Amino acid sequence: MAQKVRIGALASGGGTNLQAIIDRCLDHSIDAEIVLVISNNPEAGALERARQAGLPCRCINHRDYESRESYDQALVDALQEAHVDLVVLAGFMRLITPVLLDAFPVRIMNIHPALLPAFPGLHVQRKAIEYGARFSGCTVHFVDNGVDTGPIIIQAVVPVLDDDTEATLAARILKQEHRIYPQAIQLFAQGRLHIEGRRVRILPPLTPPDSALTNPSVEVPGT
Ligand code: GRF
Repeated sequence: MAQKVRIGALASGGGTNLQAIIDRCLDHSIDAEIVLVISNNPEAGALERARQAGLPCRCINHRDYESRESYDQALVDALQEAHVDLVVLAGFMRLITPVLLDAFPVRIMNIHPALLPAFPGLHVQRKAIEYGARFSGCTVHFVDNGVDTGPIIIQAVVPVLDDDTEATLAARILKQEHRIYPQAIQLFAQGRLHIEGRRVRILPPLTPPDSALTNPSVEVPGT
């Protein structure tokens, strides 16, 4: 069997994406292992999930560092010490600097709960509802030096319903996050992600969806 990709996961919150990745590693549906979980937040549920799974975990609190760069250097040191191949941001609520980016070129992934390039940044489920979008979703992308701007690996689409609240839409999107993040990691593990400028080509290609979605459904005959 090919060697497993060594994942370093960075998380600030509840860690449901981390859990999805832990579960897929444990059931061997992805060729990866999590070798280190780091949180900037001592209270993060993600740390508890890592402990429960018996994974090495550390709290590296950004408040203990004078600059973003010195904080990122501490992350790099920990990740390199653990011989991490791929850095997975799983609800990591910090902007990262070139210190981290340059240490792991095209080896940092993020999940964002909107269909990029629509709605980058924070509170994006609320923004999608307020905008009146009929669809939203989630995006796994490589991280570059912009905010949620890196090359897109995979996206999942969900409808926005008329009576959605931020919470109901977030829950619908989160379910899809848990599907596509492990998928993106597996494509990386298989060496199938090839960057061509902004585009990520998957080789050999996966089957694309064979139909368009509309919301609401189109009821005009003959269309
Ligand atoms: C997810 O919606 C993720 O897309 C965003 O932050 C949330 C983290 O959730 N970046 P969890 O901590 O993985 O449950």
